[in-house]
Amino acid sequence: MRVRLKGDAICTLFLLVALCSLLYSQLEHLVPVGNKELTQKKPSVTSKTFSDSRAPWRPMPAEAKEPRLQVTPVLRRREVANKRVQTTTPSPLSDSAFNFKGYLLNKDNRNFNLLINQPKKCRRTPGGPFLLIAIKSVVEDFDRREIVRKTWGREGLVNGEQIQRVFLLGTPKNRTALVTWETLIHQESQTYRDILLWDFMDTFFNLTLKEIHFLNWAAEFCQNVKFIFKGDADVFVNVENIIDFLERHDPTEDLFVGDIIYNARPIRVQKSKYYIPETMYGLSIYPAYAGGGGFLLSSHTMRKLSRACKEVELFPIDDVFLGMCLQRINLKPILHEGFKTFGIVKPSAAPHLQTFDPCFYKDLMVVHSLKVAEIWLMWNLLHSPHLSCTQKKQVKKPFQWKKKAQTTMQASPLR
Ligand SMILES: *[C@@H]1O[C@H](CO)[C@@H](O)[C@H](O)[C@H]1NC(C)=O
Ligand SMILES: *[C@@H]1O[C@H](CO)[C@@H](O)[C@H](O)[C@H]1NC(C)=O
Repeated sequence: MRVRLKGDAICTLFLLVALCSLLYSQLEHLVPVGNKELTQKKPSVTSKTFSDSRAPWRPMPAEAKEPRLQVTPVLRRREVANKRVQTTTPSPLSDSAFNFKGYLLNKDNRNFNLLINQPKKCRRTPGGPFLLIAIKSVVEDFDRREIVRKTWGREGLVNGEQIQRVFLLGTPKNRTALVTWETLIHQESQTYRDILLWDFMDTFFNLTLKEIHFLNWAAEFCQNVKFIFKGDADVFVNVENIIDFLERHDPTEDLFVGDIIYNARPIRVQKSKYYIPETMYGLSIYPAYAGGGGFLLSSHTMRKLSRACKEVELFPIDDVFLGMCLQRINLKPILHEGFKTFGIVKPSAAPHLQTFDPCFYKDLMVVHSLKVAEIWLMWNLLHSPHLSCTQKKQVKKPFQWKKKAQTTMQASPLR
């Protein structure tokens, strides 16, 4: 009897020890798994589409700790996660994941100083420039600015019209080499007189600030401009076609033309770079907006938008924000086939042609997502005196202007 009792006790004790060590190993195992996942996710989730999107998207703190959900109830886990984010110094993870709460809290902080101005930009020619080209760039992208200056962004006369150019910059996000960048940008500004630099951090979600500040700048320092092209530095722009199009419009009337996106729905998937929670935008559809790669507006519309945007609450996606400003002044943006701000979809756009065929670019106004070398090559091929586009006749349906099809076909200098 005593022997059996002793045996049972030993057995129970052994089982208890085994259970405890099993639990312990499980607990120890769970924590590193969560951490490992975080560190592994970082390099793989990066943004690709936008040149200015220097902020790689990382999972939000709550979703990143998914593995531990099985151990503690959901509510407590969220509390723990939140506390950790608040008490510890901001880790690279919580730092770069978009903080909607912080954004909403700081939304009224929307006036930043202009650190580098070009007050005489639009005063060099008597009647003011015909077209002001405004290009979003980041300080670090010196090579992109150089190629734009040497190709489609050239200042001076094009087809008899005066063109001026500015680059729109914020302060670099990476503060490590700030002094070097500062020196560069001041030097660059002195050399080219085309830099506008504002005192906000140049991040993807601050592009809306860039939009507002540029419109205000144009309304103050460039009232005499006739038209404005605003776009990215990684686009190819056929300035001749744009001038040809604009010459048939009145700068004192409303004009807003681009690659217009209608009925876009806010993305409610947290992992997406464009995720917008319902607390930030409750409606199910965005107003019509132009793809940020490039669009045109008249001087008149610029002034109206500059005023209207002041009354619209900040929204982290700049294209959509501008759509909200347009909606406020009740202006319908016009879709134009010549704007390919999402790049060229080969089969439908030009089934017979290579996208690298200059004759194809001849008919377009803006093409997005090009490499520096491609922009340079395309511009040089298009301006070569030897260019002859016999292939064009193969295209079944030739390019047409959306609205004024007849007049354009006759007036076009292309053929
Ligand atoms: C910041 O800039 C420094 C110097 O140019 C560079 O070594 C570093 O990798 C950059 N950091 C990030 C996060 O890009
Ligand atoms: C925008 O810029 C401001 C000022 O530099 C900065 O405090 C803020 O964190 C930036 N916001 C985002 C979303 O990057």
